[in-house]
Amino acid sequence: MLGVVASGAGGVERLRTGLVAPALERGWRVAVTLTPTAGAWLRRTGEVQRLEELTGLPVRGGPRFPDEARPHPQPDCFVVAPASANTVAKLALGIGDNQALTQVCEAIGTVGLPVVVLPGVNAAHARHPAWEGHLAALRSAGVRLVHGPEVWPLEEPRASVPARELPWAAVLAAVEQATAPPA
Ligand SMILES: Cc1cc2nc3c(=O)[nH]c(=O)nc-3n(C[C@H](O)[C@H](O)[C@H](O)COP(=O)(O)O)c2cc1C
Repeated sequence: MLGVVASGAGGVERLRTGLVAPALERGWRVAVTLTPTAGAWLRRTGEVQRLEELTGLPVRGGPRFPDEARPHPQPDCFVVAPASANTVAKLALGIGDNQALTQVCEAIGTVGLPVVVLPGVNAAHARHPAWEGHLAALRSAGVRLVHGPEVWPLEEPRASVPARELPWAAVLAAVEQATAPPA
């Protein structure tokens, strides 16, 4: 079971075709949770419904009531792709003020539960003085960052071509590496 979490960053509109469908083809069951921003974007285009049809599970956005059953099975791995600068910062600080963050913050502290994060940010986000500290905090907690000029060269704000594809193949490879049985 792969827990796919996505936030309001460019490229999230291709979450289904770039990550969810390929993961299903590789044999994963997939449960999707979206931040409120990503949920609003993907609901508006009908993608939430398409993701639910494809995965056979509800796309989570809000919290459940305490007496409600959990709508998703427990994942064996979480992947946050794309993670906006906002979501990266909150994860690094342990802030869980939406359902997506709640799940991943707990996963980061759960022994033996791998977490992969693709920061979907631009060069300005990365020059924020707190940025490197956020990455260091996540790395020190064992989070696998899909990050660096070879996978996601940083562009200046509004310089990116609209159709720029997130490095989905590298994200799925990181998930499979994180969950591979020890040699
Ligand atoms: C069209 C559009 C594209 C955006 N792209 C990005 C992006 O690529 N990376 C990013 O960090 N923020 C981006 N943002 C800003 C985030 O959506 C905003 O910070 C939001 O609060 C993130 O919320 P979330 O992390 O809870 O999803 C974008 C906003 C808009 C309107």
